[in-house]
Amino acid sequence: MPVITTIDDLHRIYRRRAPKMFYDYCETGSWTEQTFRENTSDFAEIRLRQRVAVDMSDRSTTTTMIGAEVAMPVALAPVGLTGMQHADGEILAAVAAEKFGVPFTLTTMSICSIEDVDAQVTKPFWFQLYVMRDQDFLRRIIERAKAAKVSALVVTLDLQMLGQRHKDIKNGLSAPPKPTIANIANLATKWRWGLGMLGTKRREFGNIVGHVQGVSDPSDLMAWTAEQFDPALDWAKVEQIRDMWGGKLILKGIMEPEDAKMAAKIGADAIIVSNHGGRQLDGAVSSIRALEPVLEAVGDEVEVWLDSGIRSGQDVLKAVAMGAKGTMIGRAYIYGLGAMGEAGVTRALEVIHMELDKSMAFCGHRDIGDVTRDILRVPKGFSGDWD
Ligand code: GLV
Repeated sequence: MPVITTIDDLHRIYRRRAPKMFYDYCETGSWTEQTFRENTSDFAEIRLRQRVAVDMSDRSTTTTMIGAEVAMPVALAPVGLTGMQHADGEILAAVAAEKFGVPFTLTTMSICSIEDVDAQVTKPFWFQLYVMRDQDFLRRIIERAKAAKVSALVVTLDLQMLGQRHKDIKNGLSAPPKPTIANIANLATKWRWGLGMLGTKRREFGNIVGHVQGVSDPSDLMAWTAEQFDPALDWAKVEQIRDMWGGKLILKGIMEPEDAKMAAKIGADAIIVSNHGGRQLDGAVSSIRALEPVLEAVGDEVEVWLDSGIRSGQDVLKAVAMGAKGTMIGRAYIYGLGAMGEAGVTRALEVIHMELDKSMAFCGHRDIGDVTRDILRVPKGFSGDWD
């Protein structure tokens, strides 16, 4: 195994090993990619306060997210097409997360199905729901999640339609890839990926194919989201889903205090401040800038987590110090998965954990539960003094 000391190391290997189409799908934002870039660059604006002569022994990053104990306040985010980044990717990531002691979230747009993942893990995982027009599909997928003893439903609210990602259109993104000359030429250089794919039968959208009627081309993500996703999703429908599900509910994609208040009012157990990794509304502020106003609005009513932009344990520490009770990582673990499968996801988690643990200690804390905003130097007006 090469020596991996940063998430960036995994990113470099991932870039070499994954087919261009799937690398581009992961490493893109919508339109100009301003929000995608600022999600990470805004973290760098915040600085940490170094403290000295503090006992740093016996440290702990253990905490809880919606009542479940986690080894650190980090969950694996739902990421579309994970099983195209590496054969059986969702299963490998779920197993790595379970062994590490952090939650795994399976997306509706996965390659491995709910049942595939359920068969390989021993503890409950989370399922992320995209709301489809087809009521029957919606009802059935919620039943499938219940049958798999999914312990929380994550409803994503910011993707009723896809934001335009230019590279996906130019690459003709599909799962599995279509046998075009450009794809064949690129895949011929990705032998490791190809061998993995030959060794699995999971190469289509596992939760969808065979479960939804009337999709013109179920391999074409852009076509089927346009045909199937419910553009009329509103708070009344979110309440219906809450009632159909009846278990722990997490609402993802909240950026504004007004929406956070609605989410708290309908009884969400947690909300996730997220702009979908900069893949939806380009021009939105970064998630880390959106966090404090949301916390001020609902921080004592509901758990507030942060997603989008986290690439290091220092980023996790900054989000937690600002008041997030948990965080989600997407690309950071996909880099590991695409680089080296389950071992790569584990390495990504180890890197983030080590960075979190040591940085917390350098800031004078031994327990993540004691970390507060006092450890941060935040530029004036960081969370927005906008008109
Ligand atoms: C889906 O979640 C996507 O961002 O492509």
